[in-house]
Amino acid sequence: MNDHILVVDDDNAFRIATVALLQDNGFSVQIASNAREAQQVFEPDKFDLVLSDLVMEGMNGIELLEWIKARAPETPVMMITGYGSVRTAVEAIRHGAYDYITKPCDNDELLIKIRRVLEGRRKDRELRQLREELRGTYSFSNIVSQSDSMKQVFKLVRQVADTDATVLILGETGTGKEMLAKAIHYNSSRKVKPFIVITCSALNEALLESELFGHEKGAFTGAQRARVGKFEDANRGTVFLDEIGDIPLHLQTKLLRVLQEKEIERVGSNKPIPVDLRIIAATNKDLQSMTKNGQFREDLFYRLNVFPIHLPTLKQRLDDIPLLARHFVQKYNNLSAGRVKDLAPVIVSSLASYSWPGNIRELENVMKRALIKTEGETITAVEIPGIAPPVSTPHVSPPGPLPGTPFKEYVKKIVGDAESKYLVAMLEQHQGNVKVVAELMDLDRKTIYKKIEDYGIDLAGFRGEDTSP
Ligand SMILES: Nc1ncnc2c1ncn2[C@@H]1O[C@H](COP(=O)(O)OP(=O)(O)OP(=O)(O)O)[C@@H](O)[C@H]1O
Ligand SMILES: [Mg+2]
Repeated sequence: MNDHILVVDDDNAFRIATVALLQDNGFSVQIASNAREAQQVFEPDKFDLVLSDLVMEGMNGIELLEWIKARAPETPVMMITGYGSVRTAVEAIRHGAYDYITKPCDNDELLIKIRRVLEGRRKDRELRQLREELRGTYSFSNIVSQSDSMKQVFKLVRQVADTDATVLILGETGTGKEMLAKAIHYNSSRKVKPFIVITCSALNEALLESELFGHEKGAFTGAQRARVGKFEDANRGTVFLDEIGDIPLHLQTKLLRVLQEKEIERVGSNKPIPVDLRIIAATNKDLQSMTKNGQFREDLFYRLNVFPIHLPTLKQRLDDIPLLARHFVQKYNNLSAGRVKDLAPVIVSSLASYSWPGNIRELENVMKRALIKTEGETITAVEIPGIAPPVSTPHVSPPGPLPGTPFKEYVKKIVGDAESKYLVAMLEQHQGNVKVVAELMDLDRKTIYKKIEDYGIDLAGFRGEDTSP
């Protein structure tokens, strides 16, 4: 769509010339011959720019400017002024005009200025949109929860988010530590700056050090060029130190220095580089007891533990289980090609009685797998083996002998059903480890494989393969 410009001027000749120039350059133009007329046609969001004469009969340009700013502060206004009234133009800028141009004006100059205003406006709008998106993605409303223990967590997050305080997130695996760290970052004023994740357990010590701090060329064998570390990359943003309990002692000392002095040194250099960082750390370990046996520096622990937030396990937020399960059904609905609508009511209670050692991540994976397996519109116990026990086992209440079904065939079917359910539950419990399952069922592996094939069981589904698209 063409940019829409409102031209306000009581000088007829100027208006005609300007409209022609603007239209020739692809703008769509509306005209008003005085401020009152401009007020009549003006609506917020209708114009990308208002170009207004400063000195007009009746209401003058500055009054019109103020009137517009009160209604649409984001619509840029540019003033046109005759020679000799530059001082008034400057005053107009003080009142919020974007720019001014003197009359008679040079066409090229006018076009350049107009394009600059419009470009600035576009950038502003994009930035605003981006911010809205970020706020949407990581707003608390995306963190699904209704339990009291999580309300407590949200309260803390709200208190701490827009400060620079170091936050320590404590929680078992899969409880949502990273998600919370992002929510903190995107609800802080650093949100337009980087959020950098460093997984402290992922690399060996030397690699981790150069990943964090960077290095100079020739700092060690193989360092053929200088490298900027993540702490420098994250400048003015937030660093998320995941699995902080795994950070080697030697790096704990260097990290302490970052926290205390707010500066880093690249490996192979002793030139300190100042950094402005917000640190959020997370762990599922008990750091305090690690300080007692010397695995974690006590001074670093106190620096990190400024504002601890404990995330409850899924078991401690029973209220949230059905909520989260349904959330994941919606979120990953494409895995069932939009077919699956809901969970069968009976399994909702089974989900609550399972122990969830892998917490929300485990629930997420279970729901993804169920979505793939489900053929109907509701997820039933059959699709969540091992977690939601099939309602009819182990007390198989066989239907009354069906007329016309031979006895042997009938028994075979009942036994087969029971056997496959048992096997599926075992495989689920032991992540598809056939060796373990065979031992526990006191059968040999070949027999298990044969049954898996006979019953059409999808072994890969139990082995925690990530089925996300
Ligand atoms: N309250 C929640 N609402 C919706 N999804 C959630 C919630 N909490 C966690 N999740 C989802 O659960 C998964 C695990 O969360 P996350 O990675 O943040 O946990 P973690 O504690 O960092 O896990 P780990 O210890 O395994 O690294 C993610 O896919 C996340 O999107
Ligand atoms: Mg994590």
